[in-house]
Amino acid sequence: AKTPLAHAVALGFASIPVSTEDRVIVPEGYVARPFYRWGDPVGLRDNLPAFKPDATNTTAEQAAQAGMHHDGMAWFSLPRGSDNAEHGLLALNHEYIDNGLLFHDGMADWRLDKARKGQNAMGISVIEVQKRDGDWTVVRPSEYARRITVGTPMQLSGPARHHTLMKTAADPAGETVFGTMQNCSCGHTPWGTYLTCEENWSDIFVKHGERNALEQRYGISDSDESYRWSEVDDRFNVDKTPNEPNRFGWVVEIDPYSPDSTPRKHSALGRFKHEGATVTLADDGRVVVYMGDDQKFEYIYKFVSDGRYNPQDRESNIRLLESGTLYVARFNDDGSGEWLALVHGKNGLDSSNGFASQAEVLIKTRLAADLLGATKMDRPEWVAVDPNRSASVYCTLTNNSDRGTEGKAPVDAANPRAKNLFGHIMHWTEADDSPASTRFQWDILVLAGRTDTDDKNAKGTMQGAAFGSPDGLSFDHRGVLWIQTDVSSSTINQKAYAGMGNNQMVATVPGTNEYRRFLTGPRGCEITGIAFTPDNRTLFINIQHPGEGGDVSDPANPQAVSTWPDAQPNGRPRSATVVITREDGGPIGT
Ligand code: FEO
Ligand code: CA
Ligand code: CA
Ligand code: CA
Repeated sequence: AKTPLAHAVALGFASIPVSTEDRVIVPEGYVARPFYRWGDPVGLRDNLPAFKPDATNTTAEQAAQAGMHHDGMAWFSLPRGSDNAEHGLLALNHEYIDNGLLFHDGMADWRLDKARKGQNAMGISVIEVQKRDGDWTVVRPSEYARRITVGTPMQLSGPARHHTLMKTAADPAGETVFGTMQNCSCGHTPWGTYLTCEENWSDIFVKHGERNALEQRYGISDSDESYRWSEVDDRFNVDKTPNEPNRFGWVVEIDPYSPDSTPRKHSALGRFKHEGATVTLADDGRVVVYMGDDQKFEYIYKFVSDGRYNPQDRESNIRLLESGTLYVARFNDDGSGEWLALVHGKNGLDSSNGFASQAEVLIKTRLAADLLGATKMDRPEWVAVDPNRSASVYCTLTNNSDRGTEGKAPVDAANPRAKNLFGHIMHWTEADDSPASTRFQWDILVLAGRTDTDDKNAKGTMQGAAFGSPDGLSFDHRGVLWIQTDVSSSTINQKAYAGMGNNQMVATVPGTNEYRRFLTGPRGCEITGIAFTPDNRTLFINIQHPGEGGDVSDPANPQAVSTWPDAQPNGRPRSATVVITREDGGPIGT
């Protein structure tokens, strides 16, 4: 892989210090403003319910408001096909919910209507945003405004459509799935659609009876104290609705420009705990999608479409993710790598091993990847493709405290640290400079960690700003690489992370090894979501779960208590989108 290309771009801000303050801090000369908070109206016509700070908004009102726990996010210029940097749509995920914050009385008197409010607080928002008189605003009402929830009908596409394992009493044909959930990171396509990715969906399901190999491999468990939907909604009780879990774990494509369009779950992209779906194009126009499966010892995947992108034909582009080849990565210790095809009838993926068809290979993606001998990674999160060289790809591996421990996979060259508490960022270059290639060369861009230790498992290899648990990862349009951290709320500024402050966002130009801290978040939050306007002059990010782990009554951990962004005494912390600009209107970061 050698050294990544250095770009003709340089960072132009002074790195800020770590912070434990309960606010968003950006470098001097920048402004950061919370902008679309949980409970703010999404902007539906004649339906603009205001947020009630005591959480008494109804289930129906929640379906017309921002959901909880903002995560991945993408920008779409208006009008479609333009590069307008001052008017557009943001599509963003609401990854999960906190029942303790969602209701006035918490989980007391648990019933179906409460589960439904939670279902309406997950999913996706599409909002219209515009810069007016120099200030960004959410346009309300908007003909584009939309909430997609755990109840929104979607069409299943690709080989698993109509398969027996996808059929339920509510959908005997196995073609119409209800909703999407646990939407973590995302992607966007050259034809102007949003990809949203179902990550920790297995947390919702409960099965009390004996669990089969497929259920075990995807982590369906026999209890759930967090969501409790399965107690009141049989759809999530696997004893009663055995195939419903098979209808989650997919990538969903949404056309944000068509608010009445039906989202599609693309089975060709495989079923796992999808973190994100980063799209690039091969020279011949085939669409390439990179995807991580974010759990300890899971894999990195790539999809290559059968068809080719045609800038003049959106109707056919919008079907490109329905058929193609799914691959899983093997990282060899000598720095070479291979993409192994998950194709029925090849590499032992046949009936003798439990894969009767391509649909079964996809529904059981993890089991198929196990059979092929893919490399077990330290929690693959986001993937970013260099805007100046599409065969040069980066992936965050956030951490893996079990690496190298007894009975688990040992360290290897691609996952080189035992009990990897800080994570690292992989880089690979596809053979022949083609994203569709089946071979690559890899190296490690950076080992995350502290800069003040000699412990090799904790020492970061970066110069400048120390960070750990990298998660969000994206290039801007010039080639600056932006990294967002998701240190667990039980570890923020504590234990191995003592003194490292709240979660943060840092920037680097690959090839320089210099990292500068651009943003620090409020207490208890994760920083996620990266969307630049086409002129790089506005950056939208998301603050997820401020105050998580906070407990005023726990003197050992008072620092996690947050009232961000409203700063009301005893108020509820609210996940929110933040809009970041420069006071002089210049490009962000340079
Ligand atoms: Fe939802 Fe892997 O972060
Ligand atoms: Ca993430
Ligand atoms: Ca994470
Ligand atoms: Ca999180």
